[in-house]
Amino acid sequence: MAELQEVQITEEKPLLPGQIPEAAKEAELAARILLDQGQTHSVETPYGSVTFTVFGTPKPKRPAIFTYHDVGLNYKSCFQPLFQFGDMQEIIQNFVRVHVDAPGMEEGAPVFPLGYQYPSLDQLADMIPCILQYLNFSTIIGVGVGAGAYILSRYALTHPDTVEGLVLINIDPNAKGWMDWAAHKLTGLTSSIPEMILGHLFSQEELSGNSELIQKYRNIVTHAPNLENIELYWNSYNNRRDLNFERGGEITLKCPVMLVVGDQAPHEDAVVECNSKLDPTQTSFLKVSNPPPCAPGKLTEAFKYFLQGMGYMASSCMTRLSRSRTASLTSAASIDGNRSRSRTLSQSSESGTIPSGPPGHTMEVSC
Ligand code: BEZ
Repeated sequence: MAELQEVQITEEKPLLPGQIPEAAKEAELAARILLDQGQTHSVETPYGSVTFTVFGTPKPKRPAIFTYHDVGLNYKSCFQPLFQFGDMQEIIQNFVRVHVDAPGMEEGAPVFPLGYQYPSLDQLADMIPCILQYLNFSTIIGVGVGAGAYILSRYALTHPDTVEGLVLINIDPNAKGWMDWAAHKLTGLTSSIPEMILGHLFSQEELSGNSELIQKYRNIVTHAPNLENIELYWNSYNNRRDLNFERGGEITLKCPVMLVVGDQAPHEDAVVECNSKLDPTQTSFLKVSNPPPCAPGKLTEAFKYFLQGMGYMASSCMTRLSRSRTASLTSAASIDGNRSRSRTLSQSSESGTIPSGPPGHTMEVSC
């Protein structure tokens, strides 16, 4: 039997009482995230607690993909179709994903008490640093839809150094003008909250078409057990301030941006106007014929090009067709996180041709 030996352990630098060594903290965090595949966490913030779900393991030198959902949905109903789409797997396996649920939108959330002051969209954006601090992440690539796109943009304006890229789907960066308010009030006289929210998520044509997809989302919004909470998020969205983007001005997004809009989306004009206000060398505009993010095919492909332009997708990860189309554009990209700051995003059209111009081109993609 092996002899037990007494081993003397000495600490070179004694720790202060209650102090945890940095390496141990990092190991604990890595282990926590490793174990937490799709685990939900909550953190306290100055504006109340916020819940988020983490998938994947952190990769050194890589940002987290950080999502924020639209009104009437939660992270699952908004992003599951995109993130569980087959072709998306080769992309997301290279990233840790953090999916936020706006307060009161998480599954099983209790209804807020009467008189509860729901955070404004700006305050929801101010909760994000608490999440990143908890996870010890320094940078993100944000993916937001509607209200979530606004929140991530607001966060990027106040924390530009921590946002490497933004995918903004159906964003409306403008505050409601008095005409919008009048229309909103009139609609409110004849429509229920679920109907108004469905009118925000989809066009009238899509709603009257009543496809399977529309029936699914109608069911989600109409039968939400937390409808009172949803109404509070909806009110915050309608009371948003103008983001005041200004091309060439101080208030602008500094990172690469992919703007995405459905060609029948209620926000099409707002997204087009947003495109005109952002830096054209950093911004790409993608129009899809089905409402994103429910139609993940072309969005996935465009997302791949977007990441590739940032140097995060090796050409070996591209589909054969995509690879042959973009071979001349990918020389700076590498899978291990060594990236150049080349801003190349290419998008494919349905016909399979791909323009190889700089970002900032408007490209209509059907899906
Ligand atoms: C993900 O893998 O990131 C994911 C999985 C399920 C729902 C949403 C996202």
